[in-house]
Amino acid sequence: MFRVFLPSLEFASVWRDAARRLASNNIAPGQIVWDRGEGSDLFGVAEQPQADGPSAVTAPSSFRQLAEAVLCHRDPVAPSLLYKGLHRHQTDRRALANPADALSRRLEKLARSVRRDIHKMHAFVRFRELPSKGPRRSFGAWFEPDHLILEAATPFFARRFADMDWMIATPQGVARFESGSLAFHLPAPRPDFPDDASETLWGTYFANIFNPARIHLNAMRSEMPVKYWKNLPETRLIPAMLTTAEARVDAMRAALPTEAPARTARILNRLAPDETVAIPQTLAEAKTAAANCRRCGLCEAATQTVWGEGDPSAALMVVGEQPGDAEDLAGRPFVGPAGQLLRTLMDEAGTGSVWMTNAVKHFKFRPRGKKRLHQNPSRGEIEHCRWWLDLERRLVAPRLTLALGASAAYALTGDKSPMRARRGQIEQARDGGSVLVTWHPSYILRLPPSDRQNARAELLADLRQTTTLLKDAVVPYRGSASD
Ligand code: URA
Repeated sequence: MFRVFLPSLEFASVWRDAARRLASNNIAPGQIVWDRGEGSDLFGVAEQPQADGPSAVTAPSSFRQLAEAVLCHRDPVAPSLLYKGLHRHQTDRRALANPADALSRRLEKLARSVRRDIHKMHAFVRFRELPSKGPRRSFGAWFEPDHLILEAATPFFARRFADMDWMIATPQGVARFESGSLAFHLPAPRPDFPDDASETLWGTYFANIFNPARIHLNAMRSEMPVKYWKNLPETRLIPAMLTTAEARVDAMRAALPTEAPARTARILNRLAPDETVAIPQTLAEAKTAAANCRRCGLCEAATQTVWGEGDPSAALMVVGEQPGDAEDLAGRPFVGPAGQLLRTLMDEAGTGSVWMTNAVKHFKFRPRGKKRLHQNPSRGEIEHCRWWLDLERRLVAPRLTLALGASAAYALTGDKSPMRARRGQIEQARDGGSVLVTWHPSYILRLPPSDRQNARAELLADLRQTTTLLKDAVVPYRGSASD
């Protein structure tokens, strides 16, 4: 048997050196006692080998982080489990990375519990100001972590509070940060810190941000476990705040504003049609008015409003989703790749004159480097822009409308159900007109080549169907420009 004594501080490097030496001598885990001075029976136990053995010791790259966390765990078996993992890795390179392996799962669990403890320490250490002799302010704190995390957790405070001196005392030891260097010392009795004015200030702040209407005791206990409360000055205020919470909620309710805040008026103003401006009576007036549209936020980033174009007396209106990158720059609908595919298919189908437009008149995109990536408009944006589409439909008065894709179909019919079952069907528009639903050409362009031909043929068939329907006059548009 071999014995390795792990001191209460700097135990990680002691473990590392010993583990490397023992593993290189191929000492089995069961042959080693990892002694944290917790009363192991040490009779008949030899000290560890003095020199590295013949075998080269390797560890996976993630092992160092795992080891640093596991070694802080208070469970006395943690160091020996970790050695078991290292020893096994020498003959089975995949064991430690295998999440189904019981030992690696156990090590991960130990590490997780330590990381959680470190996180809590970072959140719940409360400093009190101490008298200082030099130019640097001085602070002290007492904290009781679950695990042996003093050395692992305190470099965080050194980075955060680099311009002051501080000490954090724990039952495991004391961390002192003085003139920019961090040192660790053996435990001392719990210091008696003086009262601190900043603590009163912190208490006042906490009481003020405490919202009695949002108390959720269980959530609060899990975020800030009760075991930490005794060392948190602000928690002394919680019982009193809870007893008065109900009355405070009533008071908040009674004080609720009865009028919407001033900004609501500004927003409504921007979104609502300006009733003082005459409703455009012609397509030319509508185009001019739409150029200044500020009904939704899309106008902010787009280059310009892209109004419809084509034959104003056409029997067929084609409605797309929104202008794309090319349309936004050109100020004309369907001039980019999807538009070109559509125009090609329209030629193939022998489609007559049309009015082409979009459900949304501004390009919605997400910048990525120099590119502007298309984003689908939201339902809200489609609804805001419908004011223009409805006006455009009253002015063009088509007998049939071809809806390209889901956004156009939703804008025209109010139906948001999926496209597959609807494609090729005639639906009724919100204004009573007839709408033939079909694929959007850019959807076809995005399909894998194997599916593209089929969808292209379906769009072509739907375009041919519009010609047939209009010939037979079976799809009379029931609205009129005077609606
Ligand atoms: N896609 C559309 O929906 N409309 C256009 O104008 C161009 C591409």
